[in-house]
Amino acid sequence: MLAPVVGLTLLLATCTTSALILPRDADAYAPTANVSCPNQNLVRTFSASNQSLHADELSFIAAREAKAADAWSEWIGDGSALGYESGALNLREHQPRVGIAMSGGSFRASLYGAGVLNALDARNASSKAAGTGGLLQVASYITGLSGGSWLVSSLYSNGFPMTNELVFGNKDIGWSGWLLDLDLFLPGGIDPGNSVDFYSSLKRSVKSKAARGVFTSLTDTWARALSYHMLNGTTRENFFYSDADVVHGAGQLWSGIANIPAYRDNDTPFPIIVVDSRPAKMKLGGDTELEFPVYEFSPVEFASYDPALSAAMQTRYMGSELNEGKPTRSDGCMEGLDETGFVFATSSSLFNVMFDRTSDGAESTLGVLGDLYESVLDDFQTRNKDVANWRNPFKGISNSTFTETAEDWLSLVDGGLNGENIPLGPLFVKERGLDVIVAVDASADSDDDFPTCMSLLHTDERIDMFLKESHQTFPPVPVSAKECISTGVNLRPTFFGCNPENTMEPEYPLLIYLPNSPPLTGENPVTNSGTFKLSYTEKHQHLFLDQVHKNTIGGFIPNSNNPDVDFGRCLQCAAVDRARMLSWVDRSAFCADCFAQYCYDPLNPPQRDAIPDRKRSFVDPDPQDVHDFIERNKSTIIIAGLVCGLLIILVTACWRRKIVQKTYLQLTPTESRAALNPQQPQQPAP
Ligand SMILES: *[C@@H]1O[C@H](CO)[C@@H](O)[C@H](O)[C@H]1NC(C)=O
Ligand SMILES: *[C@@H]1O[C@H](CO)[C@@H](O)[C@H](O)[C@H]1NC(C)=O
Ligand SMILES: *[C@@H]1O[C@H](CO)[C@@H](O)[C@H](O)[C@H]1NC(C)=O
Ligand SMILES: *[C@@H]1O[C@H](CO)[C@@H](O)[C@H](O)[C@H]1NC(C)=O
Ligand SMILES: *[C@@H]1O[C@H](CO)[C@@H](O)[C@H](O)[C@H]1NC(C)=O
Repeated sequence: MLAPVVGLTLLLATCTTSALILPRDADAYAPTANVSCPNQNLVRTFSASNQSLHADELSFIAAREAKAADAWSEWIGDGSALGYESGALNLREHQPRVGIAMSGGSFRASLYGAGVLNALDARNASSKAAGTGGLLQVASYITGLSGGSWLVSSLYSNGFPMTNELVFGNKDIGWSGWLLDLDLFLPGGIDPGNSVDFYSSLKRSVKSKAARGVFTSLTDTWARALSYHMLNGTTRENFFYSDADVVHGAGQLWSGIANIPAYRDNDTPFPIIVVDSRPAKMKLGGDTELEFPVYEFSPVEFASYDPALSAAMQTRYMGSELNEGKPTRSDGCMEGLDETGFVFATSSSLFNVMFDRTSDGAESTLGVLGDLYESVLDDFQTRNKDVANWRNPFKGISNSTFTETAEDWLSLVDGGLNGENIPLGPLFVKERGLDVIVAVDASADSDDDFPTCMSLLHTDERIDMFLKESHQTFPPVPVSAKECISTGVNLRPTFFGCNPENTMEPEYPLLIYLPNSPPLTGENPVTNSGTFKLSYTEKHQHLFLDQVHKNTIGGFIPNSNNPDVDFGRCLQCAAVDRARMLSWVDRSAFCADCFAQYCYDPLNPPQRDAIPDRKRSFVDPDPQDVHDFIERNKSTIIIAGLVCGLLIILVTACWRRKIVQKTYLQLTPTESRAALNPQQPQQPAP
């Protein structure tokens, strides 16, 4: 295991020497400390049984939905295409509230999510013609975590363009797209000389942040590297160059989304990024339990609607020193900590898994690399190197139920680490009152990196165990991954919760599940690439997005490999069904047929056998590139060790999670939890 260490050392040496001159781009990432606190409450509290939303969120949603009224009629027309009498659905009065959740799964999830959004976007002519395009225009909320949060952030940073333009760029406006062909860790290829400016710029950013008295960690480096790809400001031409004007997305704030024209005009949904946490009493480790607090970042607030906390802090002033919601010093506030890059890097911060000392086998390798990182970060003030460090805005709040009430700092980690890899939590918050939720799932639950409903099962369990008071009930879903597979609901679009008992006040929202799944045509899949694939050729990206588009607009026809030309209208049936109930109208024959085909009925479950000839093994559509890569870089074999080292860390983390998931694949989440924690009795919600 010497090679990776040597490689890393060389690399760091490069960074250190080149950091002697400090260009002026350094400060863009650093927050401003010791600003005088605004004369208003920065933290608001509520209770699980009497929740409230921030006034700015309420006014945004009201304006968005007023605008969406026209988008609904453009999408659905007068309802007659769905078999309803003209106007009978009364969409204006009973306008459904729609949210879309983009799962994690690294670049695979960003690409999958981009492909799905394109299929739901009325601005794309083929999506509109298919009838699926239009849902994005009526959505009030969009949530993301990890790879899904990169996509969501990127959309806003670039002014909410169509996703093909987002991914591939638009020369006319000087936007280069995601540049996914440049590797995340080794953008200049294997020769570190190409990337000197890149590495030293990352390091300068973290150093200047630390100089403002804030703890930093590996998550900050991660934030900066990802920002080169996902945020507005980096082009192919300036990738390896930075100065005061070329700062690669540094300085873009999550609270600053409020200034983006598309957001200001309510032409976008309200964005939320989900992050998980590791309570302070757990010093290290990657196991994240369902009872640990879950937080969300909106442009307005950093909040937790978990009953144990029920509090929210203004995003813009994150980092301020507070106790019981009040500033401890009148000039102890902070601005600029909510860097968009840092928010989405927090949501994808997996370093705690990598450094998990209890991990079997690879312990010593991780230990060595961990110590090496530590010695580098000693330069930078750090508290926990393996998590995202955020000052706790909720110190002294909910002091009988909130586990972190005495802590000065929060340890925040990847939003999917508790097993909820689709950010559904914020969309089930009762006060938000969602009617229809689209779950876009690019999880890698199975050996072949496709989802098997695991995330749905975990959210179902978390709501059931801890969030009954604060969140809507989860609709009926399969009870285990095994049943998800045997019913085939992970192979095609599925609607959950179609028939609530109470039609006037449905017990749960209607959940539209869009899992990453093998091409319905029976072609080889290119969309189940590994979570730790950190570069994609342009050809692969095109094929990826096209495959997702075809599957998303194509639905399925039982016992066939043909697309369902009616799927778009079936999706419309699902989107308007809650409004139909409230309008006292019977489901049309057309929509009833759709529901028979696409709804999951637990009493009469569908069968996987009805979905024939789907190929599941990933086939690299552009393997040429890998060979070139190896050929080109034969001579720099020592540095290649670095790649191995990083890959080993990443793959080990991935592999470890998979073992756990595989072993317990047949069990329900409750059973899995019991099996994983035999010594811990299950605690009821406090
Ligand atoms: C709920 O909270 C609001 C303030 O957010 C308060 O005005 C109202 O009285 C509370 N209602 C109940 C029933 O406690
Ligand atoms: C619409 O989406 C399809 C499928 O990805 C794509 O081929 C086409 O170029 C898109 N059209 C526009 C205008 O982006
Ligand atoms: C990119 O950012 C710059 C500077 O913040 C802004 O002027 C420009 O409008 C942004 N581009 C898009 C497409 O949003
Ligand atoms: C902020 O003020 C505190 C107390 O006066 C001081 O200790 C600290 O160094 C200041 N931080 C910065 C970055 O100026
Ligand atoms: C908890 O909060 C309540 C209300 O804010 C306060 O009265 C009480 O003293 C606090 N308890 C502790 C142990 O801080």
